[in-house]
Amino acid sequence: MIKNIILNALKKKSPDELIATSKKSELKKSLNVFDLIVIGIGAVVGTGIFTIIGTAIQGGPEGVGAGPAIIISMVLAAVACVFSALCYSEIAAMIPVAGSAYTYTYATMGEFMAWMVGWILMLEYAIGNITVACAWTGYFVQFLKGFKHILPAFVVNFPLWLRNDFRFMLAYCDKYGLDPHTQMPYLFDKIPVAINLPAIFIVLALTMLLIKGVKESTRFASVMVAVNMFMILSFIAVGAFYVKPENWVPFAPNGFEGVFMGAFLIFFAYIGFDAISTTAEETENPQRDLPIAILGTLIICTILYVCVALVLTGNVPLGQIDIQAPIAHAMRAVGKDWFAGLISIGALCALTSVLLIYQLGTTRILYAMSRDRFLPKSLRLIHRKFRTPHVLTWISGIVVIVCSLIMDLNISAELCNFGTFTSFIIICIAVLILRKTEPNRPRPFKVPFSPLFPILGIITCGGLMLYSMKFLSTSSLYFPLWLLMGVAIYAGYGYEQKRLEEKQKAQRAIKQPKIEV
Ligand code: ALA
Repeated sequence: MIKNIILNALKKKSPDELIATSKKSELKKSLNVFDLIVIGIGAVVGTGIFTIIGTAIQGGPEGVGAGPAIIISMVLAAVACVFSALCYSEIAAMIPVAGSAYTYTYATMGEFMAWMVGWILMLEYAIGNITVACAWTGYFVQFLKGFKHILPAFVVNFPLWLRNDFRFMLAYCDKYGLDPHTQMPYLFDKIPVAINLPAIFIVLALTMLLIKGVKESTRFASVMVAVNMFMILSFIAVGAFYVKPENWVPFAPNGFEGVFMGAFLIFFAYIGFDAISTTAEETENPQRDLPIAILGTLIICTILYVCVALVLTGNVPLGQIDIQAPIAHAMRAVGKDWFAGLISIGALCALTSVLLIYQLGTTRILYAMSRDRFLPKSLRLIHRKFRTPHVLTWISGIVVIVCSLIMDLNISAELCNFGTFTSFIIICIAVLILRKTEPNRPRPFKVPFSPLFPILGIITCGGLMLYSMKFLSTSSLYFPLWLLMGVAIYAGYGYEQKRLEEKQKAQRAIKQPKIEV
């Protein structure tokens, strides 16, 4: 019995089977390499470089900061990503199917691990989106403040309970000795009501856009990416004139600990290039375009980030770097207030495109999981007119909305990092396994120096994750809980469904015997 369960849990899908299933896909093939790079940059450049960089430099409640040595942290995080990006490229070009790491795990480690990876990817995509939605509200408030001379005061200073979660409100009242009942409404006089209205608004708007179509969504994302790239380049160009090299001393105030913790946090800024591979089934020429787009995105973003970090730490003395809107604040610190307002617009565009692409990724992974019967069939209904998975798109939007009412930006970012590191490690392992089990399968792109590079990917991602777990007590408790929840769902639903699927397949085979010619 136990042996049977283990054998079932290890059942793999052959790459041919995966490709055959994807050929039946109803998704529209409309993306080219340019669209993919737009998706990549749109998913990568966001909260990490506009918000989290502040904490990575200064430190947070559970870890010390890197200081100007954030540049080294960035390179470290980029190196960890490059190994995994190469592995993603090899598999994405070889098995161009929707579902990203989830699908690749199915081909290499079997059913149970595939489900777990899909579940972990939800940390990266759905929980990651909560971080971004919270940061979006922060920059939206900054943006309104920039227009305080034109807008009515009630718009600029709209109530705190309409832009934060209830836990923030309670902590805020506690800090300033205020009676919470005077600061927010209470339901039945017992339940405090606080809602992050801007986050809800933007997630709803993007959900509707995604339902309308993937091409329309990437077109919209390309406008967002263009604006945010322009803002980042302008920040580098303007800020370069105000760099004071003395601000770079001390370079690494917290030594290795600061550099490693900085690398763990700023890793969030690199997450997203893998979202490209979730759209493999909608790509015109996946074998050629996926590797180019994945590596291209990573190279462009690393160069930009290091420049931004040099300018930011060169403009503002350590200790005065803002944690909520560090880039906009840096421009204010050098006396360019108007430019700080413009930066908020760039940040809003960046965060909007990250939200959009992450939701796209969430639905495509869930789509692949539902096709494999881990989730009910009704979820993957395709919209008749727009040919997009509208039920899943709504569900992923609603989950982000509900969670953004109760979850904290830092915890969701840390959880997202844990999830992403785990999926990167699994991808590196998958490359090693496929090289052994499918040595002759055509590989339009190959990881150079294999097995060294995949092994280095496992070591760098695993090392950063384990090191940070020493300090981040809250998220390193939530992460195993999330994994346990995944195991419980598989045991209670997925496992049974897979056996049912096998039975139905066997019955169909008996009813329609193969005709020998
Ligand atoms: N890399 C994405 C961001 O920084 C997740 O928002």
